[in-house]
Amino acid sequence: MKRILHISDLHFGRLIPKVLSVLNQKITELSPERVIISGDLTQRAKTSEFIQAANFLDGLIPPYLITPGNHDLSTFRLHERFLYPWKKWQQFITADLEPTIATEAYKIIGINTARRVGYSADWSRGRINARQIKRIQDFFTTASPQKIRILVAHHPFWLPTGHQHRGLIGGAETAIQQFQQNGPDIILSGHVHLDYCHVHGGIIISHAGTTTSDRLLSGYPNSFNLLEVDPDKILVSRYHWSGNDFAYLTRQLFIKQTDGWYEQ
Ligand SMILES: [Fe+2]
Ligand SMILES: [Fe+2]
Repeated sequence: MKRILHISDLHFGRLIPKVLSVLNQKITELSPERVIISGDLTQRAKTSEFIQAANFLDGLIPPYLITPGNHDLSTFRLHERFLYPWKKWQQFITADLEPTIATEAYKIIGINTARRVGYSADWSRGRINARQIKRIQDFFTTASPQKIRILVAHHPFWLPTGHQHRGLIGGAETAIQQFQQNGPDIILSGHVHLDYCHVHGGIIISHAGTTTSDRLLSGYPNSFNLLEVDPDKILVSRYHWSGNDFAYLTRQLFIKQTDGWYEQ
């Protein structure tokens, strides 16, 4: 099985150095072939935070794929937010806001769901638009059935009971409907700083919490998820910070059927 490590919401600027140090050790220990980072790399989109984040990325041994989150847009420097929102991201992190990777075993596409302005009063919620849905479907159309199709987006397409007030990504319902054709097998997200894994509309929705920051939700420590993928089987193992280490917490097994994915 191919191993992919999913981390999220690192929030450089609110980062816990010891947790980052142990994360680096765990990456060496678990030896994933790829690392996925689903946004909110910084806290305030400051240059100093982007430089620290870039240093972390430079030190990563496995190749990685990264997408931005709402915190990677400036909240207070409005000229920056509206006139050149992604200048620092593209200068320090990567020029490509919506990267893709294709291997023998899987195809991964990241999309940028953070927006300068939102339809709801809460601009942090993010959105997926028709162009992005089409781009995702076009990307997966060419994937053989043997390849696992992975979508990376910062904002959530499903939320568990007790957390629905956080709000789904704008366009979630349309996207899940459209994804019944040439959609992803699994969506990797972050934003809400809680980790969970659940099948919705035949698609596995897997969220990592905040992996390294002190912006913790009550009851949800720092966390990351380890994916192990086969063509018709995906294992998602969740790891929680225990005070000194990231400890294995639980594992969920998902099996592919003709009409979508099911949890065993
Ligand atoms: Fe976050
Ligand atoms: Fe976020």
